[in-house]
Amino acid sequence: MSAHDEHSSFIKTPQQLIVVVLLSFLVPIIGIVLLVQLVLNRPSADPAALEPQAVAQRIQPVGRVEFGAAGAGAASGARSGEEIVNAACGACHVAGVANAPKIGDPAAWAPRVKTGLPAMLAIAIKGKGAMPPRGGLPDVSDTELARAIVHMANKSGANLKEPAAPAAKK
Ligand code: HEC
Repeated sequence: MSAHDEHSSFIKTPQQLIVVVLLSFLVPIIGIVLLVQLVLNRPSADPAALEPQAVAQRIQPVGRVEFGAAGAGAASGARSGEEIVNAACGACHVAGVANAPKIGDPAAWAPRVKTGLPAMLAIAIKGKGAMPPRGGLPDVSDTELARAIVHMANKSGANLKEPAAPAAKK
């Protein structure tokens, strides 16, 4: 009896033979089924998701800037000083919030008026202390801002001239 038989098979019993025969059929069939599925399901993502509209919606920016949408006043160009004051400045300057020079208080305005409109405008543009730049209205023009200052100052004992459209840009 040879101890080392090169032709010995790992199939020793009839049960093993049956398993091997079954597997030799099943494995290729499963492979074919998977391949067919792969080919048939090619566009696996939702086709509607690739529509240009859907793509544009997905990649749209988080925020957007709109110009001229701040009401009729912004669209028509320069607003009057009174409009600007009512829209923004009054929130602080009517009651003198946070030590804002109060409208109708000459003592609060006189020293500021003495510095001149260009100086007050420069401060209003940049902001000062509790006062936000441009009174919190980023879309207000320099001219509109100057008019608002003149409006408030003149209601507080000053006698400033309202700037014309493109003026007061010093
Ligand atoms: C959030 C409140 C607030 C709003 C809104 C606001 N202001 Fe003021 N403003 C202040 C305060 C507070 C001061 C005083 C700042 C200081 O002297 O420290 C001030 C000061 C000023 C001064 C005097 C600057 C100087 O020469 O010392 C002017 C002019 C002025 N504001 C104009 C405006 C105009 C015009 C608007 C509207 C477009 C406006 N402010 C809106 C709070 C406000």
